[in-house]
Formats: sequence, C-alpha cells, structure tokens
Amino acid sequence: MDDKSASFTRLSQTEFGTMPETGEKVMLYTLRNRNGMEMSVMNYGGIIVSVRVPDKSGRVEEVTLGYDSLEAYIRNNPYFGAIIGRYGNRISNGSFTLEGRKYTLPANDGTNQLHGGPKGFDKVYWNIAVADDSSSLKLTYHSPHGEQGYPGNLSAEVQYALTDDNEIRIDYKAATDKATVVNLTNHTYFNLTGDPSRNTILDHTLQISADSFLPVDQRLIPTGKLQPVSGTPFDFNTPAVIGQRIEDDNEQLKMGGGYDHCWVIRNHDGSLRKVATLTESRSGRKMDVLTTEPGIQFYSGNFLNASIVARQGPCGKRAALCLETQHFPDSPNKPSFPSVVLKPGETYTSTTVYKFSVVE
Ligand code: GLA
Repeated sequence: MDDKSASFTRLSQTEFGTMPETGEKVMLYTLRNRNGMEMSVMNYGGIIVSVRVPDKSGRVEEVTLGYDSLEAYIRNNPYFGAIIGRYGNRISNGSFTLEGRKYTLPANDGTNQLHGGPKGFDKVYWNIAVADDSSSLKLTYHSPHGEQGYPGNLSAEVQYALTDDNEIRIDYKAATDKATVVNLTNHTYFNLTGDPSRNTILDHTLQISADSFLPVDQRLIPTGKLQPVSGTPFDFNTPAVIGQRIEDDNEQLKMGGGYDHCWVIRNHDGSLRKVATLTESRSGRKMDVLTTEPGIQFYSGNFLNASIVARQGPCGKRAALCLETQHFPDSPNKPSFPSVVLKPGETYTSTTVYKFSVVE
C-alpha cells in the first residue's frame, strides 16, 4: 500500500437540507480518489453537486455548475448535475402511443414534455446506499404507474462510481411492470477552466465521433431525418474549438440558439466506447466521454443567463456545456429511431463514463 492511499478518506457525508414536503433528510456524499479528485452527490434529484479535478499543474478545481444549498436547487435549477428521467430530452406534444394506447404527459417546454416533465427524476428524492469499499453510491427511486403521465411502476437504479483512474462511471438500470418508455441521462454542466463566471466554454475544444446529427424544428424536436455533419459546423470528427463556428450562418445553429442537438454515434453497437473528448488548453484538463448509448446531446448552455447565480457567481449564456448520452429525442414518436420501449421482464441498462486527465 502506498502513502497516498493511506492518507485520504474515500467518503464523507454531511447534511445538505430537508425536503420541504416530506421532511426527508437530504445528505451530501463526497467520494474521493487517490489523485485528489472529488465528486459530491445528494439525494434530491440524484444531483452531482460538485466535481473537483486536478489541472495540468495538479491544482484541484470545480469543473461543474452547482449551488451550495438545497434551497437554491429547489428554487431554480436548470438541471445542474441531475439525473434525468423517465425520458431525457423532448417528447413532442407531450404524447405518444404505445401498444395501441395513447398516453398524454404534462408539458413543460411549450407543448413538449422535456426531461421527464414538471416533476421529473431531477426533482424527486433518491435513496442512497454506499458501497462497502466506499468508492460508489447506489441511488434508487421507485416511480409509480402514471407518474408524469408514464405507464408502469418503474424501479430505477443509478450507480455513481469514482475510480482511481479519474473516471466518473454512471450505470443506469430500470425495470417495469407494464410496457413504458425509458431514456435516462445525467445533466451535469461542465466548464473545464475552473472559473465559469469568467470563462465561457467557447474556447473549449470538442471532438465527437459521429457522421450525422439530428436536425430539429423550431420546437427543438428532431425532424426524423439524419443529416450528415460533413461540411457543416456540426462536424466535430476533427477536434474543433466550440466558439469557432457557433455563430455561423447555419439554419440548425439558429434553430438551437447554438448547439442543442443529438449526434448519432458512429458504429454504435451497445458496447462502452469513447464517443467524445473535451479539452481546455489553459488548464490542460481533458474529459473523455464513453457510453453505451446511440446518441449524445451536445448542449452549449444557450439558455443559461446571468440571473442564474451558481456557487461560482453569475453564470451567463454558454458558461458551461452538457454532453448528455442518450437515445434520440422524441423516439416514442419516431418509429425509425432505436426503440426506447421497456417491457416487463426486461432490464434497461445504460453506462456512461466521464474520464478526466490532462493533455500531454
Ligand atoms: C437540454 C435541452 C436544452 C435545454 C436544457 C435545459 O440540454 O436539450 O434544450 O432544455 O436541457 O435548459
């Protein structure tokens, strides 16, 4: 055993607040690894409250947007760090038909349902159990039949692990007693500079392994077509600086107010593979995204505005970005997209890894 592993505490817990309606206690769990990396998670929304990562000189800094109090999360949270479900991203007109029955969901994004509805998985209380070796947390939530309009009692499980290779590994699982739709993701906002109140993500460099993306209409609902990225500002096969083309005269960029689209992962086969890499040259921080999912929504923080005061201060437009691994938006209404239907007896599984390092 080396000195480092002997000299740090893998896990600590503190009280973070109380759920207003039920009085349930909300705890903040902080996982640490031997490299000084830390990740904090709480019961409300299963939210990743903080991720602290070394830069090229070893300085450990915050790389996500978050608040310091539960009240702030309850008051106004643009999905900072949250588990998103049952259906991550949009379902057009808040309705879909499954096994011949039409389901109507409460809308919360114009006529669409976004991120599982007005009270999605980002706003519920998740039970948390600590693994024996203190390196991971298992979060569970039971979503009753009819919740936010969805059929079936759904048991959801999300495991967050912090490895000594500076990886945050997220394993999702779900099971139902009636056919339903499921698309779970996490909505952590990243800014690798360590100071999102002063630096936007426009100087970050992004690479995404995708030959096509899903163009959207004015409601940000995919048209159903796949559009080749080649020759467009959506081509991130070769690493590109995000700000370089974001204001280009491009219909889809205008539609999204920047990047807010789902990229179709090349050669997706359900195995865990690297699909994207984000780097920031000044800090030297690098984040690889690995997933088993067929899509990745790159959201360039277009709706953030300076009235949102995160722990780092006001975080305006494009202060941070999300790389949300998922099935395609509006799949329940798009028969040509990979299926998101979960039936009784089946287990939904999905894995995503955010791996941190520094550029060589
Ligand atoms: C997702 C969506 C965006 C926006 C954010 C939350 O990333 O794609 O359009 O709704 O969540 O603000």
